[in-house]
Amino acid sequence: MLDNWQMTRRQLLQFGTTSIAAAGVASCRSLLPGSRNNTGESSDNSNRVILPSTCVPLEEGCPLKDHAASRGLIYGAAAKYPTLSSDSELANVLSRECALLVPENDFKWISLRPGLHQFDFTRSDWMADFADANNLLLRGHTLVWYKSLPRWFQKEVNVTNAEAVMLDHIRTVGNRYAGRMHSWDVVNEAIAPTPTIENPWRPSPWLDWVGEDYVAKAFHAAHEVDPDARLVYNENGLWWDAPEGEAKKLAVLRLLENLKTQGVPVHALGIQSHLRGHLMDQFQPEKMRQFLQNVADLEIEIIISELDVRDTDLPDDIGERDRLIASAYSEYLAVILEQPAVSTVVTWGLSDRDTWHNKAGRKNDARPLPFDRNLNRKPAWSAISNSFQNAPLHSP
Ligand code: XIL
Repeated sequence: MLDNWQMTRRQLLQFGTTSIAAAGVASCRSLLPGSRNNTGESSDNSNRVILPSTCVPLEEGCPLKDHAASRGLIYGAAAKYPTLSSDSELANVLSRECALLVPENDFKWISLRPGLHQFDFTRSDWMADFADANNLLLRGHTLVWYKSLPRWFQKEVNVTNAEAVMLDHIRTVGNRYAGRMHSWDVVNEAIAPTPTIENPWRPSPWLDWVGEDYVAKAFHAAHEVDPDARLVYNENGLWWDAPEGEAKKLAVLRLLENLKTQGVPVHALGIQSHLRGHLMDQFQPEKMRQFLQNVADLEIEIIISELDVRDTDLPDDIGERDRLIASAYSEYLAVILEQPAVSTVVTWGLSDRDTWHNKAGRKNDARPLPFDRNLNRKPAWSAISNSFQNAPLHSP
């Protein structure tokens, strides 16, 4: 079965998870010959199929990626270059638990672009090579965003050159990693926190200087340079059902529908899912189910792209806090994983020793992720693995 080299990479990846899920068990990884690496040479590990690794049969102690793969799903985590390159313990746990890596900051403009005419791929290349070396799929985050722009941006970019600058960035970066990417977040957070029918857009230099079709233009450019990558529209604030959450869901659906109608190559929606532990009463399963179905009806795949549980307003007691965080994961994933269009779940970090929440709220005491600071599995880990085990079998 694995010698049909003519299949597209997307088919191969889907084949990898679903065929193994159907078989129930596997004890190996498979690598398929791939296309270019960043030097343009042939690479042996780009078009790889990630198979469940060591667990036969699936047991409690198996890594999250195996629990996910047994249901036809991909599990991955975000990590940043400064941590991954210096913390070998975390790197080992990540490569054991995950089938996919998202560089948390290293593919953002602020990392890649020291100047208008300069690119610095030091960190992004290191992350891509780490992914290759550890048989991890790679998700690029993010080509076009209103945030994380370098200082020089406001001075050097304007209405006259913005479109050329955006397209040059997408072509240069997309081309460098073409053939190696599982997916690209092409555009991040284009919809306003409280969108209206008249103006759904989030303020952004791209909107101001390129116009509303900056989104469509970005997707076309990404598709031209990396036709095999899943192209993702990534958005925040979609998980809860405050009135603004409803308006946001509608605006995102309208945007996706418009893009599809225009023939724009948008393949997946990334639902960030930065849950807040104390606001889980604002998560309404029925509304989320309906939203996911509406996305699926557009023939758009769904990636849970930045899952974590903020614990700032949860009780201080660690046992109680961990229980509530775990229950937020369970409650959310039970609903999400019912939807067959969901293919991938990514947590925004793996261990509490390195989470963006350590910079806010609870400072260095945040516990939003599946592993604690000592890299021990937490109740959140069990909640996620149980959610995978209880999920229906997913197929492409
Ligand atoms: C965050 C990173 O986690 C931080 O390390 C960084 O300082 C700021 O950005 N939504 C996104 C991500 O799409 O890029 C953000 O990541 C978190 C919110």
